[in-house]
Amino acid sequence: MEVWELKEAFGPEHLRKGERPDPAPAAGEVVLRMLAASLNYRDTLMIRGGYGPRVKVPLIPVSDGVGEVVAVGEGVRRVAVGDRVAPAFFQSWIGGTPTSDKFHDTLGGPLDGVLTRFMRIGEQGVSRVPDHLGDEEAACLPCAALTAWSALVTEGSIGPGDTVLVQGTGGVALFAMQFAKMAGARVIMTSSRDDKLARVRQLGADETINYRTTPDWDRVAKDLTGGEGCDHVIELGGGDTLERSIRAARTGGQVSLIGVLGGARADVSLPLVVMRNLRLQGISVGSRDGFEAMCRAIARHRMRPVVDRVFGFDAVPAAFAHLEAGRHFGKVCIAL
Ligand SMILES: NC(=O)c1ccc[n+]([C@@H]2O[C@H](COP(=O)([O-])OP(=O)(O)OC[C@H]3O[C@@H](n4cnc5c(N)ncnc54)[C@H](OP(=O)(O)O)[C@@H]3O)[C@@H](O)[C@H]2O)c1
Repeated sequence: MEVWELKEAFGPEHLRKGERPDPAPAAGEVVLRMLAASLNYRDTLMIRGGYGPRVKVPLIPVSDGVGEVVAVGEGVRRVAVGDRVAPAFFQSWIGGTPTSDKFHDTLGGPLDGVLTRFMRIGEQGVSRVPDHLGDEEAACLPCAALTAWSALVTEGSIGPGDTVLVQGTGGVALFAMQFAKMAGARVIMTSSRDDKLARVRQLGADETINYRTTPDWDRVAKDLTGGEGCDHVIELGGGDTLERSIRAARTGGQVSLIGVLGGARADVSLPLVVMRNLRLQGISVGSRDGFEAMCRAIARHRMRPVVDRVFGFDAVPAAFAHLEAGRHFGKVCIAL
């Protein structure tokens, strides 16, 4: 079968088409005919070897995808031939509290990912996706959507009337906006570009701030809450933005630490956290059970992911280049 892989070395220039044997399911496994994939910022780091020595080549990259079950091994009960499913980002985190052993088996590195025609995978590691979504839309859910869901719902216990501040207009950010609106919250979005802010307003954002032309966006966000501060902050900038996110949050609020787009180290005034009983919550995607709860909510609300652009299987390098150029609004997908 045809795959995209990093065979001998990391680096976008080493991403090539290759051949692997067609898979057959063992007991408890299924084989998926892959339908679509979507790219995350993590995948761009992964193909550059940015995830440390534990991740090795040869590697089929990309964590997020959706496929149709075409064969099941002995004893498989969770899914059947014909079901459309997504593989879970963490293959071993089925549910409950995260522990280190649940964090090893991540798709798209160190485990092979979804840029393949067929994929063999354990039945516990797949979940059905909402029927109303197209294949590319469904392929957007495993990492970006679940991360936003975990931050706001699982860890954040978001409620109607809450105010959520979201950084940027990338994959995680747009899902955070959609889940916040679904929960009845008010959403403040930031972006480096006014045209993207106009688009998030069309999608339902209540307030928008350009973080380039308004460097004190934290103060503006706080003012928008009457000086009280935001209940939730979706923190994606990391080193560049953490202190401002903390300042924008209300006493007792939650800052969800998700991304490090602007640097992996932060200089933060700790009394701002301690004296205001703030919750700094690290978020690492989420569990399969969390994914299934999220899919139920998406189905009930008929929510649709924002897809920026769909590339063909032959255009995988162009899809990566498009994501890295940073002009996308929503998810960059690949039709398989
Ligand atoms: N912890 C987890 O489980 C988890 C899961 C998924 C992603 N992440 C992380 O979350 C981050 C976003 O991932 P993604 O896939 O959503 O990326 P993405 O789709 O590429 O989105 C990136 C967007 O973030 C905004 N941005 C860039 N640099 C920024 C900065 N310094 N400060 C504030 N905003 C900035 C930009 O928005 P504008 O163009 O509108 O300015 C950019 O378009 C990455 O660091 C990724 O590694 C973490």
